[in-house]
Amino acid sequence: MVGSMDTITSVREMIEWSRFQISCRKDTGFVPTMGYLHDGHLSLVNRARSENDSVVVSVFVNPTQFGPNEDLSVYPRDPDGDSAKLEAAGIDVLFVPEAGELYSPSHETFVELERLSRHLCGKSRPLHFRGVATIVLKLFNIVLPTNAYFGSKDYQQLQVIKNMVRDLNVNTMVIGCPTIREHDGLAMSSRNSYLSPDQRKQAICLYDALMIARRLFAAREPDPNAYLQAMKSRVLSEPDALPDYISLVHPETLENLTTVNYNALAVMAVRIGKTRLIDNMLLAEPASRNQ
Ligand code: PAF
Repeated sequence: MVGSMDTITSVREMIEWSRFQISCRKDTGFVPTMGYLHDGHLSLVNRARSENDSVVVSVFVNPTQFGPNEDLSVYPRDPDGDSAKLEAAGIDVLFVPEAGELYSPSHETFVELERLSRHLCGKSRPLHFRGVATIVLKLFNIVLPTNAYFGSKDYQQLQVIKNMVRDLNVNTMVIGCPTIREHDGLAMSSRNSYLSPDQRKQAICLYDALMIARRLFAAREPDPNAYLQAMKSRVLSEPDALPDYISLVHPETLENLTTVNYNALAVMAVRIGKTRLIDNMLLAEPASRNQ
């Protein structure tokens, strides 16, 4: 029922709520977020709503997934707006833990994926996925969700969490959901709010580059370099755009492809001015999935 959302800030209280759900044999759908919610997050919430008895959304800007020179201190926040959107979406619990309760001063345990977190974003953000895997496991231990929902825009994050759940026998089903895009194709992201109007126009180069890759795949181009050159040249045609990486990788191992003859993931991180944006597209037979 819309209008009956509880807000829980205490870890102990959240665990008690979760245990009670399990004792009632109710399925909990969980959407972990860092807040500043947009339609991409709300699509995850709606999916969770349709597949579970109860829905929990967490809002927590997790310090351990930001590097020393990254945007933790300026990360956009809108607690009142988030709460209103989630109440309107009909969730059951908004979990907003304090950083001090989740990370005590003596915190020393982290979850690290040895292989997957080294590729792609892991090269320029070496501790990022360690922070993501650690907080997601902590939240899973508190919320005890049956199903947890993540967007495919953060494709590497989704694979990291799937592998972490597999490797550590976590009793939660991880469900990847389609990327939600603006009218011109730009993937929705809280970080889009950093872009000036001119940079926002330039940011469409990410989606354009992915569409170039999709066309080459449809034309059965086997050479990864043909994709990478064409994608890079589209990105570099914008004055403020600087690629961190543009890659064509295996969708599960995230290793670079030497030839494109089957499924591939076109994936990229691009700085538009100071804002680092990521996007990807699965290139798969028979037709590319509409991400
Ligand atoms: O995708 C995000 O918003 C974050 O990385 C997550 C999964 C909530 C962990 O902090």
